[in-house]
Amino acid sequence: MKTTSQIRQSFLDFFHSKGHTVVESSSLVPENDPTLLFTNAGMNQFKDVFLGLEKRPYTRATTAQRCVRAGGKHNDLENVGYTARHHTFFEMMGNFSFGDYFKRDAIQFGWEFLTSPEWLGLPKEKLYVTVYETDDEAYDIWHTLVGVPAEHIIRIGDNKGAPYASDNFWAMGDTGPCGPCTEIFYDHGEKYWGGLPGTPEEDGDRYIEVWNIVFMQFNRLADGTMEKLPKPSVDTGMGLERMTAVMQHVNSNYETDIFQTLIKTTAELLGVKDLDNKSLRVIADHIRSCSYLIADGVVPSNEGRGYVLRRIIRRAVRHGNLLGAKEAFFYKLVPTLAEVMGHAGEIVAQKQAFIQQTLKAEEEQFARTLERGLALLEDALTKVENKTLSGKVAFKLYDTYGFPLDLTADVCRERGILIDEAGFDAEMTAQRERAKASSNFGADYSNVIKVDSITKFVGYDHLTSEATVVGLFSQGKGVDAIQSGETAIIILDKTPFYAEMGGQVGDSGLISSEICQFNVIDTQKYGQVFGHYGQVESGELRVGDKIYAEVNATRRHNIELNHSATHLLHSALREVLGEHVAQKGSLVNENGLRFDFSQPEAITKAQLEEIERIVNCKIRENIPVIIEEMGIDAAKAKGAMALFGEKYGDVVRVVEMSAFSIELCGGTHVRRTGEIGFFKLTSEGAVAAGVRRVEAITGETTVAWIHQLQQVLQHSAELLKADNASLVEKIQQLQDKSKRTEKELQQLKDKQAALAGSELVKQAQQINGVNVVVTQLDNAEAKTLRTMVDDLKNQLGSAIVVIGSVADEKVNLIVGVTTDLTSKVKAGELVGEMAKQVGGKGGGRPDMAMAGGSEPQNLLQALNFAQEWIQAKL
Ligand code: SER
Repeated sequence: MKTTSQIRQSFLDFFHSKGHTVVESSSLVPENDPTLLFTNAGMNQFKDVFLGLEKRPYTRATTAQRCVRAGGKHNDLENVGYTARHHTFFEMMGNFSFGDYFKRDAIQFGWEFLTSPEWLGLPKEKLYVTVYETDDEAYDIWHTLVGVPAEHIIRIGDNKGAPYASDNFWAMGDTGPCGPCTEIFYDHGEKYWGGLPGTPEEDGDRYIEVWNIVFMQFNRLADGTMEKLPKPSVDTGMGLERMTAVMQHVNSNYETDIFQTLIKTTAELLGVKDLDNKSLRVIADHIRSCSYLIADGVVPSNEGRGYVLRRIIRRAVRHGNLLGAKEAFFYKLVPTLAEVMGHAGEIVAQKQAFIQQTLKAEEEQFARTLERGLALLEDALTKVENKTLSGKVAFKLYDTYGFPLDLTADVCRERGILIDEAGFDAEMTAQRERAKASSNFGADYSNVIKVDSITKFVGYDHLTSEATVVGLFSQGKGVDAIQSGETAIIILDKTPFYAEMGGQVGDSGLISSEICQFNVIDTQKYGQVFGHYGQVESGELRVGDKIYAEVNATRRHNIELNHSATHLLHSALREVLGEHVAQKGSLVNENGLRFDFSQPEAITKAQLEEIERIVNCKIRENIPVIIEEMGIDAAKAKGAMALFGEKYGDVVRVVEMSAFSIELCGGTHVRRTGEIGFFKLTSEGAVAAGVRRVEAITGETTVAWIHQLQQVLQHSAELLKADNASLVEKIQQLQDKSKRTEKELQQLKDKQAALAGSELVKQAQQINGVNVVVTQLDNAEAKTLRTMVDDLKNQLGSAIVVIGSVADEKVNLIVGVTTDLTSKVKAGELVGEMAKQVGGKGGGRPDMAMAGGSEPQNLLQALNFAQEWIQAKL
């Protein structure tokens, strides 16, 4: 029986024998395509080739493409594990023709591979095909050329309610390459329920689509227009997992070799006996998507791709919890996965340590809130009305306990309960509004500022410029004029002010006309225009006025030091920590820089020093910073670092500091690295699982920082009458001395307590023949009180001792009862009652108990109470 890996290889070998170039799978993070969250089909990496925008040295290609179909709000994550074929991750085998062969060859290749005994050798009578209703050409090829009987060919029209909305018309998304398709179905046999395509039972498990040939002919534009592609092309997809199920004579993908190995390994890890348990399937599916996503640079986070990853990991952890997992287990499956995936597992094997660390950190982080969240959910589930969990509870679980909505849905689904999604959304919106209200500009202008013009940015070369006011906005709306004292946003036709972008903050400065002065505090981009935010210092400004714009040059220069230093830091991090370091976020302003990047573990002190050393070395080399615009391909050929998944135009700006640092960047920079002066890291820590943050300073700020450090040192040395060299030794001596003194002091206190104790013996009163001491003794520590009570009990033989003490505005209560009396008076009970009167809580054993309280003014009352209480009991 063929394994998954063998079937994968057969496919590639077959198409290679037909003149196809074997191309490696592309990343799950689509390069240069903001329309896609994750790579979801084999053709994604060839999108531009189909569109005629990119040329490759071949016209026939074949791939085994890793794909993820999860994410978006209405995803079917919650179905995964419960059905035979839903997956978050799968491999799609593909063969592609870029204006080379078309329908006839594509169909014949597919048929030969599937039915020839040399290849998969499937029985022809078990195969059915569908064609797009009007595609007579495809019908004829199947019927006349290939010889498929008419009763095995089904025409499918626009069965999804709109033109071209059909099971037999495939489109990558709302826009992009598309065309009619023909599909091949395999009949798993009568024992499975289900009907042929086009029948009401088509969703059953009997007839399963295994092959899809798309005849790429159009590019669908955003307005729905179907533009003809330069050349008709072919995009074929074969779901590897489904085909493996066919070849291994099983119906469910979970019964095939890869899934069975993962299921068994998980079962062994968690000591689960029942291999059919659905949670095992969930975990087997999820370890695949999670490992490959991390291998491709995604790390768990609270938005975008990272949040989809987080949701999948957390769902897996929850199912582990259902199976009784007591500690992090998910990450332990990675080596098995790497092995069982064959050639496709190599990327996982290469990044195994990083994947495991990332998964483990996320698992441990979530484990901290999982139990508490589940308890809250359980409680809420017992109270649900109308079989619907309230949006409020779902939001609380999300916000406080880190439960993604689909995880909550997963738990609810097991009880047949729905979630009030509208209520959840409302809570989410309310929270966003609150966040917005507290943001920079008081009002959200992003939907208000719509100016037809474009602001020309001249700030790469100039810090001042003449310009014309083309728009004014104040109090959330467009206005014709602004007056002295008013806060507003000015839109100019051209500007030297840099608008916040790529982590670099917006410029500040001055905009002035003959009669007006406007203080610019910040600059932001709204679509194509730059908004200058600030306040009118004097005069009045109107739309159409000519002005003079002047950037605060000192501030801009300081920002530039930090931006250029960020580039050096980025390269140094990769040099010291490894190539896995990828930028996750960056902030560059006049005070310093902050840089977030993927890195699974804390950075050691030695590594930090090395990073600092390298950056400073590059500063001293005084490297010229060369900025050039060039084609994206030329930039890539130079080895320029670009951000994952970021969309870049055809022409990009490349910032180069010798070969050490080459990055695509739109920001502003120093002319030579020497201007940065001195670079100092000031902090290092974690911001999320697998993401670290460093902060640093440069230039004058570093000089000020060093001066301050020196002052602290000098002042300390003076106080200790030491110098820099002997400071540490002096501090140690002082610490030792203080420890000794504390010890002596404690001994003295104990002695004093013993004395006070013998004093108290004399004060003991007799109540019904029992020695009773009830007294107040201030400024005694709990430890001293305890010694004192023990001493008193010893000296008096048979006694009840109650002491209250006030120290540092707090009350300490202690009650001791000799064992012969505990049947009558219980220390724990008495101290508990007293504590209530001094605003505290406490209890303890019947012979010795302590309590604290926060209301010293009531201590006397509590002691009187104790006296009466004892009297009543004796
Ligand atoms: N793009 C088509 C699919 O995803 C065929 O590869 O089904």
